[in-house]
Amino acid sequence: MEKKSKIKRIAVLTSGGDAPGMNAAIRAVVRCGIEAGLEVYGIYNGYLGMYEGKIERMTRKSVSEKLDRGGTFLGTARLPEFKNEEVRLAAIENLTEYGIQGLVAIGGDGTYRGALSLSKMGIKVVGIPGTIDNDIAGTDFTIGFDTAVNTAVDAVDKLRDTSSSHHRCSVVEVMGRNCGDIAVWTGLAVGAEVVISKETGYNEEEVLSIIRKASLVKKHAIVIVAENLVDINELAKTITENTQFAARATVLGHIQRGGSPTARDRVLASLMGVKAVDELINGASGVCICHRGGKIVSLPIEEALASTDERILEKYEAFKKLF
Ligand code: F6P
Repeated sequence: MEKKSKIKRIAVLTSGGDAPGMNAAIRAVVRCGIEAGLEVYGIYNGYLGMYEGKIERMTRKSVSEKLDRGGTFLGTARLPEFKNEEVRLAAIENLTEYGIQGLVAIGGDGTYRGALSLSKMGIKVVGIPGTIDNDIAGTDFTIGFDTAVNTAVDAVDKLRDTSSSHHRCSVVEVMGRNCGDIAVWTGLAVGAEVVISKETGYNEEEVLSIIRKASLVKKHAIVIVAENLVDINELAKTITENTQFAARATVLGHIQRGGSPTARDRVLASLMGVKAVDELINGASGVCICHRGGKIVSLPIEEALASTDERILEKYEAFKKLF
């Protein structure tokens, strides 16, 4: 039976850094919206496309064969100018032209801040957390994080083979902007000797002492470093000069953002897409969809943007007991 809804037209966009699983979320929003009797529009290239009026009606077929694809078929962009009210007003005008009353914005913290501003300007907006960084506090997991961690783990497993053959230390930089989730999860999953992230802090002497101890009992060592913290080439040089291991630095980079989403990310994205449409139908705005303790719930966006440090430090405590 068709659900009753005051909203007739909604749109979906992806914004900020892409993340594997975004396509699955778009698909869920489009199919669930159509199922509920809504017209669903896709906005290309995030808030930029909203500003430029790159908007197109979606059908069930528009989202066929997208579930397993990495990236986002709608495209994405970073638009710092969206902070300016006149840019948002122009973007809202385009929505009004299409009669769009509700928006699902899929992305990370920057996307959420844009969504919050739009909701304060009268647009009904629901956010879905799509970012590999897992830096949205309100949700246990963001879409794309699981795939990115698996990509990083796979890469470090390969590096371990060669560093073990050569009795070396691999210093590996993973993504995460200002958040150490990818670093700490990867460190736990590969059995690294050291994890360095914003939350764990960095003490060079401590790192060298751990590597020296490892060199007495192991053929290799692994150091995982979150981006934007330490020059990993310098760190590799310091390890080479001050321990038994020669070290090599590897930046994993954007490879972590690509690839087919894991089943876990596809399922999370699909459940969140369905919930986002339900929220819009029920009249919600300024909220985002979260996965909390196994349940899919919605929270005010402001609450979801709190710090993730405590959550990461909990895992880091376990990490320290294991190497
Ligand atoms: O937010 C996702 C992310 O991949 C971060 O981990 C990274 O710091 C940033 O995006 C890189 O952004 P860009 O692709 O714009 O260089």
